[in-house]
Amino acid sequence: MLPFSQAADNNKDPILEVLRDHFTAPGELLEIGAGTGQHAVWLAPRLPHLGWTPSEQPDYLEALLPRLAAEPADNLRPAIGLRVQDQAAWPAGPFDYVLTVNTFHIMSRDQVTCCIDQACRRLAPGGRFAVYGPFRYGGRPTTDSNRLFDDSLRARDPAMGLRDQEWVVARFADHGRALLGDHAMPANNRVLVFG
Ligand SMILES: C[S@@+](CC[C@H](N)C(=O)[O-])C[C@H]1O[C@@H](n2cnc3c(N)ncnc32)[C@H](O)[C@@H]1O
Repeated sequence: MLPFSQAADNNKDPILEVLRDHFTAPGELLEIGAGTGQHAVWLAPRLPHLGWTPSEQPDYLEALLPRLAAEPADNLRPAIGLRVQDQAAWPAGPFDYVLTVNTFHIMSRDQVTCCIDQACRRLAPGGRFAVYGPFRYGGRPTTDSNRLFDDSLRARDPAMGLRDQEWVVARFADHGRALLGDHAMPANNRVLVFG
C-alpha cells in the first residue's frame, strides 16, 4: 500500500482552485517537501500547462517515489532530493512557480528562511510562490485547535511550530516579493501566494 496522508487528500481540491487562479501561465514548478506525492499526482495532470518537479528530503524519497511511479503524468518531472538548508542540492532553476504544503511549521525558522532565500533566487521575475499551512496572526494562533497543534509541535521539537504570517511576509519582502493573496483553506489553514 502507498503511503497516504488524509490531510493531503482533504486539501488537494482547495489548493487546486488557488493554483488555477494564480499559476496561470505555462511554466516550470518546484514542489518542496512533496511527502507522499499525493499533491503531485493529483495537481500536475489538472494543471497541464505546468512542468511539475516534486522534491523531498533524500531520506524521505522512498515514501514519495512509489506513488510517482504508480500514477505517472506527462508533465510530472523526475523527483529530486532536496533538503532546503543544503544549498548544493538546489536545482539551478529558474522556476516560474514554487509550491510547498504543510512544511513551514515542520522546518525550523532558519530552514524556512533558507527555503525562501534559495527559492526566491531561482524564481523567475514574474514567478509565484504558494505556501500552504497553519499560521499565527498578530502573534497568536487563530483558533484553539491551531494553538493545541502549535503547542504539540513545540513539545515534540522546540524548533518546530506555526510561523507568524507577518514574519513570512517579511522574509519574502527581503527578496522584493509581495503577498498577492492570503486564502482560507480547510481546517484553519491558509495559502499565502507571493509574487
Ligand atoms: C507534514 S509533511 C507534508 C508533506 C506534504 N507536502 C503534504 O502536504 O502531505 C512535512 C514535509 O516537510 C518536509 N521537510 C521538513 N523539513 C524539511 C527540510 N529541511 N527540507 C525539505 N523538506 C523538509 C518533510 O520531509 C515532509 O515531507
